[in-house]
Amino acid sequence: MPPGNNDARLSPQSRMETWVPPGSPDARPSQRSRAETWMLPLDTLVSWYRTYADDLRAARDAQRELLAQRPMRPRLDDLEAEISYLTIRALRPRAVLEIGSARGWSTTWLLRALGDNGVGELHTFDLTADAAAAVPRELAADRWRFTRGDVRDGPLPDDPGFVLVDAAHTARFARWYTTTLFERLRPGAAVAVHDVFHGRRPWPVSEGAVVLGWLRRHGIGHLTASPAADPDTHDRLVGLKHKLRLAAPVHAAASANPMLFAYL
Ligand SMILES: C[S@@+](CC[C@H](N)C(=O)[O-])C[C@H]1O[C@@H](n2cnc3c(N)ncnc32)[C@H](O)[C@@H]1O
Repeated sequence: MPPGNNDARLSPQSRMETWVPPGSPDARPSQRSRAETWMLPLDTLVSWYRTYADDLRAARDAQRELLAQRPMRPRLDDLEAEISYLTIRALRPRAVLEIGSARGWSTTWLLRALGDNGVGELHTFDLTADAAAAVPRELAADRWRFTRGDVRDGPLPDDPGFVLVDAAHTARFARWYTTTLFERLRPGAAVAVHDVFHGRRPWPVSEGAVVLGWLRRHGIGHLTASPAADPDTHDRLVGLKHKLRLAAPVHAAASANPMLFAYL
């Protein structure tokens, strides 16, 4: 994706007209008014939990086991990790981009989803090489490309179908990735940005505020399981996890879930 190539830019209207949300035919963008903001219906996420419940249970057990063996200092909470896993399972992207891996907790979740799909590569960027030392070889297999360095120096993968951002939590960095990266994603791609909703809304000058502004300008809504920002969604997913026997915490600090998800 060379810098300066704007060919893949799409107006909000064309995004909304061409995007068909997986598993949710009656929510087709073409059936909604142009002025309406597009959001993934929570019911679609609930259906993904049901469809992939057995695989997710196995993934959670494997992640719990991994954490017992390695000091990975998880940043992603359980709901965030699970929504990322389910998004990859449902969208089946050929390329996933991760910005900020630290010791590899999010990395291992993403690799597990790609492994369960049997298709797709993960491209990870981080300033440190800690994840390269922590991610088990069998999980990385031939599906992981790790680059140590500033993601802004690239090279970025072509056409990532899912992008997870958990790196420099500044407005400046968010301006870079929204204009350089998000602008070029195709309709049907998904993005996840960590540390947005520690409260009901992000601070006015912050990474989260820049991301929300970009989404608003493009007519794209967001989904979050943050109990501070959307307690109804949080409570519904927690209740669902109880019913599906997915409730036991994978890591103990699983409570805040500040991540924002958007489906373009
Ligand atoms: C909060 S940690 C990531 C945690 C990880 N996602 C997890 O689930 O445990 C943020 C990471 O982003 C990396 N980072 C910060 N700025 C970056 C940049 N410009 N390019 C690549 N990585 C960056 C840092 O080195 C750090 O390891």
